[in-house]
Amino acid sequence: MYIPYGTQSISEEDIQAVVNVLRSDYLTTGPSVGEFEKKVADYIGAKHAVAISNGTAALHAACFAAGVGKGDEVITTPITFAASSNCAFYCGATPVFADIEADTYNISPEDIERKITANTKAIIPVHYTGQPCDMDKIMDIAKRHNLIVIQDAAHALGADYKGKKIGSFGDMTTFSFHPVKHITTGEGGMIMTNDDELYKKLMLFRSHGITRDPELLLNNEGGWYYEQQELGYNYRITDMQCALGISQMNRLDEFVKRRRELVARYNKAFENVKNVTIPFTKEGCNSSWHLYVVQVNNRKEVYDKLHEAGIGVNVHYIPVYKHPYYQQNGYDKVCCPNAEELYKHILSLPLYPKLTDEQQDYVIEKVIEFAK
Ligand SMILES: Cc1ncc(COP(=O)(O)O)c(C=O)c1O
Repeated sequence: MYIPYGTQSISEEDIQAVVNVLRSDYLTTGPSVGEFEKKVADYIGAKHAVAISNGTAALHAACFAAGVGKGDEVITTPITFAASSNCAFYCGATPVFADIEADTYNISPEDIERKITANTKAIIPVHYTGQPCDMDKIMDIAKRHNLIVIQDAAHALGADYKGKKIGSFGDMTTFSFHPVKHITTGEGGMIMTNDDELYKKLMLFRSHGITRDPELLLNNEGGWYYEQQELGYNYRITDMQCALGISQMNRLDEFVKRRRELVARYNKAFENVKNVTIPFTKEGCNSSWHLYVVQVNNRKEVYDKLHEAGIGVNVHYIPVYKHPYYQQNGYDKVCCPNAEELYKHILSLPLYPKLTDEQQDYVIEKVIEFAK
């Protein structure tokens, strides 16, 4: 038996949805793309949604739309996947790391404020594990310093902050539909925004910077005519992926409910175990639980022993600036003490809708046995 830390849940309806597209006229951009965008936008309560090839492309597109460019600085957290900061590099800008809060593990608004310079253009808060960041404070800082906020919500589809769905407020919010996430399209991502101008830029960027929209064309030479107005990419998502996404969206509430049930079971099992620190949830921050992260003192030992026992725990994340690429590009003197301390102790335990109570009980038993 092998229990991974995360995996997709694919139903017969999901499979049929993809097969139906394969039998249709469109494989890439077709009717499923817009339908998927509308479905997610309606669920979230956002005005616009742009479906895109993956969550990294979503961040790149958002940085482009925000006007992030050479000489700019973009503040994000080190406790994230590298894509959250790489997107600044893609635009010729410099990522700057603000430390995390010791209790929520999310980016610290106070440290964001300390890291702001005349060159700061944007903030990319990451709703780590699915728990929303302190968005009131972050939006207030952004307003005072005239910065754009791009929420990296790769972990937080279905989460809400003070009663508002993540993705329904702020400048732009990005999602990932990688198989371990709340819903999957294989590879896939989306950007949500309520701003018409940002939406236009995102749409251009997804497809080479090209438009055929008569209202956007600078000239119009006839029915065949299109224009490349920006330097965009081919970041399109296929109709097959979006059909899967539509079908998966029908199951999102059920997925989030099961994740919350499993988290409640983990919390109950570990709350009185001295050697296991369970996650802290801040009031008003209703997590949708992409990851369940505990802290233990003997992390390497627990990691190795759990793997030997067939439990595929993982570590999210190595502080991004510790990677060789960053170290070799001027980040060797960066230090975020809370992030570095957290990294020594964390383990992501298995969490996905298909995980059974029996499998979870086995994980709990082994974690308690190995944690010192
Ligand atoms: C926080 C975060 N941001 C961005 C991404 C990138 O998403 P994708 O893998 O869809 O490119 C991920 C994916 O793992 C992530 O966890």
